[in-house]
Amino acid sequence: MQNNVLILDFGSQYTQLIARRVRELNIYCEIHPYNSLPDNVSTFKAVILSGSPSSVRSEEAPHPDLSEIKGKLPLLGVCYGAQYLAHFNGGAVAPSNTREYGRANLSYVKEGEAFFEGIESGSQVWMSHSDTIKVLPENGVKLASTEDVENAAYKIEGEETYAIQFHPEVYHSTDGKLLLENFLVHIAGVKQDWTPYNFVEMTVNDLKEQVGNDKVVLGLSGGVDSSVAAVLLNKAIGENLHCIFVNNGLLRKYEFESVLHQYEGMGLNVKGVDASARFLDALKGVDDPEQKRKIIGRVFIEVFDDEAHKITDAKWLGQGTIYPDVIESISVNGPSATIKSHHNVGGLPDFMKLKVVEPLRMLFKDEVRRVGASLGMNPELLGRHPFPGPGLAIRILGDITPEKVAVLQEVDHIFITNLKNWGLYDKVWQAGAMLLPVNSVGVMGDERTYEKCVALRAVESTDGMTADWVNLPYEFLQKTSNEIINKVKGVNRVVYDISSKPPATIEWE
Ligand code: XMP
Repeated sequence: MQNNVLILDFGSQYTQLIARRVRELNIYCEIHPYNSLPDNVSTFKAVILSGSPSSVRSEEAPHPDLSEIKGKLPLLGVCYGAQYLAHFNGGAVAPSNTREYGRANLSYVKEGEAFFEGIESGSQVWMSHSDTIKVLPENGVKLASTEDVENAAYKIEGEETYAIQFHPEVYHSTDGKLLLENFLVHIAGVKQDWTPYNFVEMTVNDLKEQVGNDKVVLGLSGGVDSSVAAVLLNKAIGENLHCIFVNNGLLRKYEFESVLHQYEGMGLNVKGVDASARFLDALKGVDDPEQKRKIIGRVFIEVFDDEAHKITDAKWLGQGTIYPDVIESISVNGPSATIKSHHNVGGLPDFMKLKVVEPLRMLFKDEVRRVGASLGMNPELLGRHPFPGPGLAIRILGDITPEKVAVLQEVDHIFITNLKNWGLYDKVWQAGAMLLPVNSVGVMGDERTYEKCVALRAVESTDGMTADWVNLPYEFLQKTSNEIINKVKGVNRVVYDISSKPPATIEWE
């Protein structure tokens, strides 16, 4: 299953999308920077060259070493990849005269080509380039055109080399996934065996081999990634996995107890550490958001280090790192950014000197959930909204006191419980409440009050990078607002945040 498909990244914003589409076909793939090819290139079953913001005509154009790939393995060039294969193999690429951006439709598709099986003239494709291929490379055969782009797709006769100037990975290319399937399954003969079940089986075996009888320490956060990583490791090494779940005093109401209970129910060897007082003490009087984040990060490391020391002979640190984090850390401009931590090992906390084991480092978020489901994990845990590491600290604007935390926990609890009761929780990507540093006037009975205002926020998003506020039903907002004002002492006003990101971030701090 390993080394199925290699995607060489030339820095396109869409490279990750190519990988996701390939994985949706149940095919394993890996992204590597174009200038840092894996050692075992020849063992891959197919290679895809991504797009790029560069022009093949510029001096800084990325030049991959394709000597072990072109003509030897099935190869698909996308956008820049297609232009590269043309420009440096006897063809010609020049600036385009017409706008080649956005939706277009194929106006010509060559008949009888396995590459275009099931795709007809008229199919919508997504273009995004300012150069265009004027002359096909040596032995190039045109396979498709649009009205503005003569050489929208071509193949190189005598090789399993295909190239397209549009983006099959983008949702707007309606037959994009079919095209990838035609290339990968029918032309390259890649097996569609990348399933959660196979992943679990393979990973558990790998982990057994990698870790052996060593002890692993892992910090649980209550989130999906660390939980799935723990269950996988537990399946592989059982009691040798030592999990630590820290209460920083800034979690949701009942979170520490209930999640700890769930973890124990899953058979994990987990220790709950209530360090609330230590965190809240360190945060006393601090109102700057970045300062809050730094303090929480530092105290977490101290607490975790203390706990990790109590586990004698631990050799490994387990982490729930997922593929988007890995891809971001391997820059197209060279791998140097990823290895700098070795230079200051002496200054790192002891647990960071442990060897790192990351069972999810090749998975996208939705794959983590699918793997969790195939491991029989609770769907409620797998469907949890993201929650920031610094927790309620960055939802309490201004300084933090235990009283403010308690107030916000109550408000948040009412909001989230109502979302669940109204069947809205799963329609929302993330939700929470902010405690504002303002008091406002209200009347309760015959009394004038001067109390806190809270803001509710619920957003739709796919990755947190952009977000839209959710159009929650008025009746839901009305009931929730009433309940908060009636039940939470110290709050007399509730507002709903109707700002999108950008520019308004999801968290207020
Ligand atoms: P923003 O507020 O930047 O949030 O729109 C995007 C996503 O990131 C989460 N977030 C954090 N997560 N530590 C975290 O672990 C942080 O300091 C942090 N700040 C924001 C936020 O909850 C949202 O999911």
